[in-house]
Amino acid sequence: MPDLMPPADRLAVALDVPSADRAVELAECLSGKVGVLKVGLELFCAEGPNIVRELQKFAPVFLDLKLHDIPTTVVRALNAVLGLNPLLINVHALGGLDMMKEASELVRKHRQNGGRTHLLAVTILTSMDKRALEQLNLTGEPSEMVLRLAHLAKRAGCDGVVCSAQESASLRAECGSEFLLLTPGIRPRGAETQDQVRVVTPYEAIKSGSNWIVVGRPITHAQDPATAAEAIILEMTGAGNHNGSI
Ligand code: C5P
Repeated sequence: MPDLMPPADRLAVALDVPSADRAVELAECLSGKVGVLKVGLELFCAEGPNIVRELQKFAPVFLDLKLHDIPTTVVRALNAVLGLNPLLINVHALGGLDMMKEASELVRKHRQNGGRTHLLAVTILTSMDKRALEQLNLTGEPSEMVLRLAHLAKRAGCDGVVCSAQESASLRAECGSEFLLLTPGIRPRGAETQDQVRVVTPYEAIKSGSNWIVVGRPITHAQDPATAAEAIILEMTGAGNHNGSI
């Protein structure tokens, strides 16, 4: 199903801004052009659930709260926000199998009752490298850890994972065509990387099996966010700044 979505629907724009005013301003100019608006911790903590209601007038929201707590607390938090009916919501896979199972069960019931939310698990944050993981006594290659956590998320009943696009191809092969992959750390060709370390172009991410790409600053900091989004959508299809085709 998601592979058949047009490229524009597969672009999630990270609205990492501190206020509802700025978020709505961006949503207005991206409305009808991009498929998903991502609300992260900064905006949600500043503005609360109302900003999700407001933004969903423009496009479906990915509520990126990365919940990580004991199963009961995660389920109660999810219950509190599922009424907003975001398109996507997430928990940390490192919260464990039981937590992910209970979260998946709740989200499945929400869909049975007509909701549209899908649950993703965050594998390993792209800001964590091998050394940072070893400091936590998590040894082994980060890519192997991502794979293990993705398998665990699938076993728990999650609909997919958040991962680096560098891992999309192997996760797609291991977890099957129905498993949803959403990938941040995307930079259009020639763009500044800012604080992202392992960046992938929109074209490469889609080609390697990502269902959605998340792009923030290259769009939100652009002089004309709508034009920047359109250029990225062209790149996703291989028609922009790239010679290949999907
Ligand atoms: O501005 P930029 O395109 O780097 O924004 C990427 C977005 O994706 C941010 O909201 C960031 O929190 C999120 N993200 C990420 N890496 C992860 C998970 C989420 O960059 N592993």
